[in-house]
Amino acid sequence: MVMAEIEKHLHGALGDARRLFHGRSGLFPGWENWVVDWFPPVAVIRLYQPEETASVKALADQLSALPGVEAIVLQERYIERGANHRILKGNVPESIQVSENGLRFEVRLLDNQNSGLFLDMREGRTWVRQQAAHKQVLNLFAYTCGFSVAAMAGGADSVVNLDMSSGALSTGRTNHRLNGHSLDHVRFMSHDLFRSWGKLKKLGPYDLIIIDPPSYQKGSFVASKDYQRVISRLDSLTTDDAQVLVCHNAPQQDTAFLTQLMAEHCPRFVFEKRLNNPEDFPELDPEKGLKALVYTKRDLSRGEQSTWS
Ligand SMILES: C[S@@+](CC[C@H](N)C(=O)[O-])C[C@H]1O[C@@H](n2cnc3c(N)ncnc32)[C@H](O)[C@@H]1O
Repeated sequence: MVMAEIEKHLHGALGDARRLFHGRSGLFPGWENWVVDWFPPVAVIRLYQPEETASVKALADQLSALPGVEAIVLQERYIERGANHRILKGNVPESIQVSENGLRFEVRLLDNQNSGLFLDMREGRTWVRQQAAHKQVLNLFAYTCGFSVAAMAGGADSVVNLDMSSGALSTGRTNHRLNGHSLDHVRFMSHDLFRSWGKLKKLGPYDLIIIDPPSYQKGSFVASKDYQRVISRLDSLTTDDAQVLVCHNAPQQDTAFLTQLMAEHCPRFVFEKRLNNPEDFPELDPEKGLKALVYTKRDLSRGEQSTWS
């Protein structure tokens, strides 16, 4: 069952980066701690809890036999500090380039908790690319600027990326260069968001804002208290018919967590839709996976009705 799932997504990837096995979905009993990601030509086994060495070896052997798999990395995510990556097969350079729908991204498979490209956000990047033409875009919690790359590929006039990690933004610069983008209209601000409202406002207003914070980052972002601090700024940062992509990937907070915050703090923004998650991220309970919600601002002064009034 597991190998059938892996082979299906490997085949469907057509050379792009993909999740091959999403055991955390709850759809594969006994495999809840296992994930396999595909950054061609490297397969990455991610373990969320310790598993038998023999089981890891058996999976690695089966992955090795698949076409195109040249190297295998094991990441033991439950080891929070120090080296939690090991090469099980082949050579893995410090960084490699991968593709997604014709865009190029740099990923690092041997260090950091995350590789540089969040594979579950593929549909979000596609949506941003489709909306971005001629827009001023603000990308909050930008990380390695995946949304910014998508926006510039979609013809955005400008993007402001904000993230407190200068290292992640530096990879963001590389990602734009890999895609042949001029950086003249792409800004990279390495600041704590909660100390940056004034600067962001000066550079606005924005037609499209992406909010994609960490699920939980001690001292930097705790959704239960901080998400509303972001949402309550949206009105003052946006143009009259702006769009916002509001994202959250914490299993303990569902879609209603976001829709209630938007209704309370942003009554002028109307809920349009929740983006589908990619087919390689099936979920037993979809509320536990990524939530990516599209909102559009309505100009009430032109007589439009808010859905909340
Ligand atoms: C889930 S990642 C964002 C993923 C990104 N949107 C993407 O599409 O790849 C969360 C990011 O939020 C950043 N971050 C967390 N707290 C922050 C804060 N208070 N101000 C600015 N950035 C913050 C982290 O540095 C991290 O890069």
